Amino acid sequence: MSQSAQELLAAETMGEAAPYDRITVRRLCGALGAEIGGVDLSKPLDEATVGEIRRAFLDYSVIAFRDQDLPPDRQMAFTEIFGPVEQHPLYRSNPIEGYPEILVLEHKAGQFVNGKNDIWHSDITFSETPLLGSVLHCRACWEGFADTMFANQYLAYERLSGPMKRFLDGLTAEHSAELLQRKNNAHPYNKRIETIADPIAHPVVRTHPETGRKSLYVNSTFTIGIRELAEEESANLLAFLYEHAVQPVFVYRHRWRVGDVVMFDNRCLMHYVVPDHPHDMHRRMHRTTATGDRPF
Ligand code: SIN
Repeated sequence: MSQSAQELLAAETMGEAAPYDRITVRRLCGALGAEIGGVDLSKPLDEATVGEIRRAFLDYSVIAFRDQDLPPDRQMAFTEIFGPVEQHPLYRSNPIEGYPEILVLEHKAGQFVNGKNDIWHSDITFSETPLLGSVLHCRACWEGFADTMFANQYLAYERLSGPMKRFLDGLTAEHSAELLQRKNNAHPYNKRIETIADPIAHPVVRTHPETGRKSLYVNSTFTIGIRELAEEESANLLAFLYEHAVQPVFVYRHRWRVGDVVMFDNRCLMHYVVPDHPHDMHRRMHRTTATGDRPF
């Protein structure tokens, strides 16, 4: 019996799945993503349930919970399942009182607080220790607008030819917050970012510290160049990698509903917010992030 492309991709992505007893897990598409059921995140979770949620996160890279109502303290507790919660290193606008770690990402009648994220990126790769991952809790949206897309960078790496993989394996790229600073400071309702750190180098191919899988690790928002190459070589190679990395076959598109909680693995994904907001649409996300480690 011949397997469909979708089945082949799914087998390659997930491997043999062990059964889940405490939660339900429904794959969202061939490339990545699972919808998790049977859990109320507003209540404390037992150890076995936490273990299965963590396993699903590593298996699928994006896990989505529907119809949740998470007050700030529960969102913090859920994020801590994955690691210590950290504050955004640069954005400071519009905090929730008592919860500086929760970043409010908002669009109200034409205003984007903390920027418009219609550019493929992994979060905070300009830091020495970029995030492990982020939790997004949708508090307001119009369904079908401003979806978030996620691109699987394990697959992006695995689909390259052997010689290209070997070439990339030895390279390092510099990352900087320059573009984020410019975008933030262009909007008068954002608190200005006055200073940013010097660029930092990370491997072009990183190894996931928990799954051991390799993934592509460059993004057009923060990567400014490949250190070992001449400027023109670096620019051309990065242009190829950016296009290669976000092919539809590597992508899951999340259609937001109020009450969604989505946790995504920043170590092996890029994401992008589709900029189709009607002018008067209100979209509000509460974002928390778990601390990551230095890419290797
Ligand atoms: C982000 O880029 O972290 C924001 C994602 C979103 O607002 O959907």
